[in-house]
Amino acid sequence: MSLTITHIEDLQRLARKRVPRMFYDYADSGSWTEGTYRANEADFKKILLRQRVAVDMSDRSTATTMVGQAAAMPVALAPTGMTGMQHADGEILAARAAEAMGVPFTLSTMSICSIEDVAAHTRSPFWFQLYVMRDRDFVERLIDRAKAAKCSALMLTLDLQILGQRHKDLKNGLSAPPKPTLANLVNLATKPRWCLGMLRTKRRGFGNIVGHAKGVGDLSSLSAWTAEQFDPRLSWADVEWIKTRWGGPLILKGILDVEDARLAADSGADALVVSNHGGRQLDGAPSSIAALPAIVEAVGSRLEVWLDGGIRSGQDVLKAVALGARGTLIGRAFLYGLGAMGEAGVAKALQIIHKELDLSMAFCGRRRIGDVDRSILLPGTAPGG
Ligand code: GLV
Repeated sequence: MSLTITHIEDLQRLARKRVPRMFYDYADSGSWTEGTYRANEADFKKILLRQRVAVDMSDRSTATTMVGQAAAMPVALAPTGMTGMQHADGEILAARAAEAMGVPFTLSTMSICSIEDVAAHTRSPFWFQLYVMRDRDFVERLIDRAKAAKCSALMLTLDLQILGQRHKDLKNGLSAPPKPTLANLVNLATKPRWCLGMLRTKRRGFGNIVGHAKGVGDLSSLSAWTAEQFDPRLSWADVEWIKTRWGGPLILKGILDVEDARLAADSGADALVVSNHGGRQLDGAPSSIAALPAIVEAVGSRLEVWLDGGIRSGQDVLKAVALGARGTLIGRAFLYGLGAMGEAGVAKALQIIHKELDLSMAFCGRRRIGDVDRSILLPGTAPGG
């Protein structure tokens, strides 16, 4: 079969074929009814762009900066858990594809490849995403390891002290590596490429944690691990402590409410990410794009406001930027590429989004990302008026 890949949905279809069901489902699910997950995408589609004609469209650039660091477009790879289960060595491959494209890569605390391992296999600095665990010594060591690996920003996730229930993960018995149950073995038998990759690599558990954290119980199951280890008492005082310990650019991820956005700005962070965790946490919360305008209005002059959730195309990136996002993060869009084709698939996902963004920006009569504002949107179709 030969398939010409022209948009993210092609990569998604291929990933669904190639990635074992429990990991494809893990990436693809939202919590409970998945209403917020669906709203993230649906609300982007409601926003209409204003086409302009006979405007000079030569010499365009999508280049920008995110927390002062150069980015070929206002897009970074989001921290996604268990990326190395979508494809063997997934975090290293995704980081390399991001490096080649000139966009930032964020490594999750819950990654398969460790901080040190990704640093050893890349040249550009990457960002590290931190979850706050009950074991504060372990958190301090993680921050110090990210510093030692020359990570150039720390992204602190604030919306996952507890885990939203994802029905499919419970039904599939999600674990890394998968347990050798009959159902898993039958499914794995249909994924020979994935199995071969996993047989060739040693990276099959949570690389940042194995051998680094004491007293860890059932590490293989994400739900057991978060319930046991993540700190439900996380507070703004912890943000202060982490900011001081880290000492570099700090990004706060998981803000949906204007009051929280103000607190994030008061904390002295450099950026916040308007995010509902890809619809994976509070089902019934608004889509990220619906929450964006009020947050930009409240704190956009005090720190960079970014967005993630629902971005599947360059048009979506353009709409987020038009509504005031200085940057965006893509999660599933790159994971589909990774599951479909490894490093080449992530590169393909980034190329697709870049091209869509560049051409759509031009159709709207703009040649620079910095010139994109709300006036490229059809009035009455975007949230916030
Ligand atoms: C963790 O980051 C998750 O959303 O599964």
